[in-house]
Amino acid sequence: MAVTIKSQHEIEIMREAGHILATVHEELKKLVEPGISTMELNRYADKLIRQHGCIPSFLNYNGYPASLCVSVNDEVVHGIPSKKRILKDGDIVSLDCGVIYREYQSDAARTYAVGNISEEAQRLIDVTKQSFFEGIKYAKPGNHLYDISAAIQKYVESNGFSVVRDLVGHGIGRQMHEDPQIPNFKQRGRGIKLRPGMTLAIEPMVNMGAYDVWFLEDDWTVVSRDGSYSAHYENTILITEDEPRLLSVKHGTTIEDEIRN
Ligand code: MF3
Ligand code: CO
Repeated sequence: MAVTIKSQHEIEIMREAGHILATVHEELKKLVEPGISTMELNRYADKLIRQHGCIPSFLNYNGYPASLCVSVNDEVVHGIPSKKRILKDGDIVSLDCGVIYREYQSDAARTYAVGNISEEAQRLIDVTKQSFFEGIKYAKPGNHLYDISAAIQKYVESNGFSVVRDLVGHGIGRQMHEDPQIPNFKQRGRGIKLRPGMTLAIEPMVNMGAYDVWFLEDDWTVVSRDGSYSAHYENTILITEDEPRLLSVKHGTTIEDEIRN
């Protein structure tokens, strides 16, 4: 499939989808505390998405059984919510969520501390988030796609962590996963040339230890091979003539606001 360029009208819809998704994330964040089950988070996400007139994009996607991915500690992504999995003090938890609004998609992930976590775990969360913002500095027309990837990799590795190789970001629009694939590692100067109107889901997944991962028996949950903690941060963004825009944030939120958020 070719990379799609969105019209102003399509972008308006994606902005609204992203605003709603950001509202869902904002509400979920308040619930992240020791004692809550990952299933409760999923149920709440599903309810909020529908209340806002959206469809949960993850539910039934390739058979995925929930509206939210909840990945704890060494789980990298695609953790399946369970009422038996109770968050406890010292955990880190990644919440990945997607919505469809008037046939357009938005996709975003955040990683949070549960109660009090180690300094190193907090650094993992912070470096993962910042790596996204290092990457999108290059999300401008004329630059190559892998300029983003290389910047993410450089930032992560210079902080002593590693970038997961087996999973990538993606174009997004009418489909959750459109071309191009967006690795979080690569050589700069390569990859497609970026153009205004491209909408991308950029999503660094960062392990504290080695980058190797494997899949659990449930065929979904991806975990770090060495059992080290892993964090995930993702936004849907728009390439414009000048600075990129975050689409999966509340209306009016700038890049600077989101870095501080
Ligand atoms: N945000 C993820 C992605 O970008 C999650 C989708 S997997 C699903 O690929 F199965 F849960 F939908
Ligand atoms: Co995604």
